[in-house]
Amino acid sequence: MKLDELGEWQRTVECGAPRQSDIGREVTVMGWVDGRRDHGGVVFVDLRDRSGILQVVFNPEENRAAHDAAGAIRGEYVIAARGTVRQRPPETLNPNLATGEVEVMADEVRILNESETPPFMIEDGTGVGEATRLKYRYLDLRRPEMQEKLMFRHRLTKAIRDYLDGAGYVEVETPILTKSTPEGARDYLVPSRVNLGNFFALPQSPQLFKQLLMVAGLDRYFQIVKCFRDEDLRADRQPEFTQVDIEASFVTPEQIYALVEGLLEAAFAVSGIEISTPFPRLTYADAIGRYGIDRPDTRFGLELADVTEILRTAELRVFREAAEKGGLIKALAIPEGSRLSRKDLDTLPDEVAQFGAKGIAWARITEEGWQSPIAKFLTEEHRKQVEQATGAGVGSVVMFSADKAKVVNDSLAHLRVTLAERLGMIPQGKNSLLWVTDFPLFEYSEEEKRAVAIHHPFTAPRDEDLEHLESDPLSVRSRAYDVVWNGTELGGGSIRIHRMDVQQRVFEQLGIGEEEARSKFGFLLDALSYGAPPHGGIALGLDRLAMLLSGGSSIRDVIAFPKTQRAVCSMTEAPSEVSPRQLRELGLKIDV
Ligand code: AMO
Ligand code: AMP
Repeated sequence: MKLDELGEWQRTVECGAPRQSDIGREVTVMGWVDGRRDHGGVVFVDLRDRSGILQVVFNPEENRAAHDAAGAIRGEYVIAARGTVRQRPPETLNPNLATGEVEVMADEVRILNESETPPFMIEDGTGVGEATRLKYRYLDLRRPEMQEKLMFRHRLTKAIRDYLDGAGYVEVETPILTKSTPEGARDYLVPSRVNLGNFFALPQSPQLFKQLLMVAGLDRYFQIVKCFRDEDLRADRQPEFTQVDIEASFVTPEQIYALVEGLLEAAFAVSGIEISTPFPRLTYADAIGRYGIDRPDTRFGLELADVTEILRTAELRVFREAAEKGGLIKALAIPEGSRLSRKDLDTLPDEVAQFGAKGIAWARITEEGWQSPIAKFLTEEHRKQVEQATGAGVGSVVMFSADKAKVVNDSLAHLRVTLAERLGMIPQGKNSLLWVTDFPLFEYSEEEKRAVAIHHPFTAPRDEDLEHLESDPLSVRSRAYDVVWNGTELGGGSIRIHRMDVQQRVFEQLGIGEEEARSKFGFLLDALSYGAPPHGGIALGLDRLAMLLSGGSSIRDVIAFPKTQRAVCSMTEAPSEVSPRQLRELGLKIDV
């Protein structure tokens, strides 16, 4: 069909704006055809733009030319219409639309572009699978729900920028083409054509640059910045994601906590949610002890109890072995145990197999005593003490895990949350924010058979623990902290090492020898030798924050063009093969 030019027409109002007070106004509106109905010769078009939907009416008796032109209009066509705002007749009022009391009587229409029939309806709750939505993301993003999410993210980002600006923080951009900045994931690499055989790494975070900005005397830095991590994806992880990255000089953790609490107050306020500050604090040891995890969901109780000492004498091989080999026996009591069927209990081991757990024992406490596959191994004294330790009583179900500490904690932390969800024990609308503090500096990696940094290698040890750095590294506590919301890690940070000698000692413990330290982080060590001030900071996951505040469960919904769970962009089909010529220029050969 022949399309019209926009010509000199200018939009005078957005679709979502007209109200009764606009009646009589001449307007020019532009947008997409959300729907078109023909009622006995009168054509009604729902015109959509990001602000909303407006009814435009083409009546042959009022304006034949416009009506005839409107005959060609179909869904998702792009049109411009001129006309007068008027009151809708009573029978056509639409209380579901903000503009539902008015309509535009069109005098003239310009059809600016046509559209193929979209692969799914442009409406909320399309029911179409995510694969199709991501392939046609530009159509998916036309849906009001998705537009609202992007606009929400904009408001959120702006509130954060304004807050940090108000606190004297300066936004500085740091390089994307850089050297590996370790945060525990794999790097994305970019080959250099000018320096054949050499690679840039995309930053896993701007960690080293923000520290260098402190050495540079910038004092208070922030950046809303893309980070890149080649890691296994989950609902709350993307290979490229955005951090609110913060660093300040001459600060204590207390100052960072107060800054971030204020920031989150401002962020939650964008969603109209009030949160109370300061946030409670929990040491890492308590978090693991009571919840089995360093990012506990504290909206509900169901705390774990360590029953190793109580049950080490039980006549049960798995319990004995766990206790004797330095492992743990922990218990989780569910008060309304009657709501868990025998089948639920029998499938518990399957739920925790993913953590390497070989089993879960359970006991139902009834008026008649303990009903349990392990009852015969437990004395009256064992049972009494377990009831005391877990707070279990008649009606409760107690679950036991016995194994290496990590297996036990991972398993019970998982069961605690899944069962609370299943039994409806998580209060909705509650926001439990907390700081987890006093992380150890290192943890032992079974995989690598050595100590690895729990946060990153630039995290400062506690001053009073520094003397054990070489003699008992795993006992050294760090000056790191995480901020956790309803069981999700929103952010993490630390006071950094600002002395070269300490940084070298920590590298040493991480198995990074002098030569390697020089070649990887020489610039940092140099910088630390030129008057580096004490400094520290934090980074918050902006996508996670946007997801949680907009009530979603996938960060892909708050990212305009996300990658799939398989780390590809199904719209552009990136990553993709490159031409032999590009490979030659880069001096690369593919060998897969
Ligand atoms: P960390 O690695 O804890 O710290 O990251 C900070 C926050 O970023 C978010 N995040 C992610 N979000 C989406 N997808 C991912 N793949 C992903 N990975 C992390 C999380 C996390 O809490 N340089 C340090 C910060 C510092 O020490 O100041 C760092 O990057 O919400
Ligand atoms: P078994 O001796 O393997 O027959 O196990 C006896 C009971 O202990 C069963 O109810 C198992 O589910 C449970 N069980 C097995 N392994 C563990 C474990 N690692 N922790 C807790 N309970 C376990």
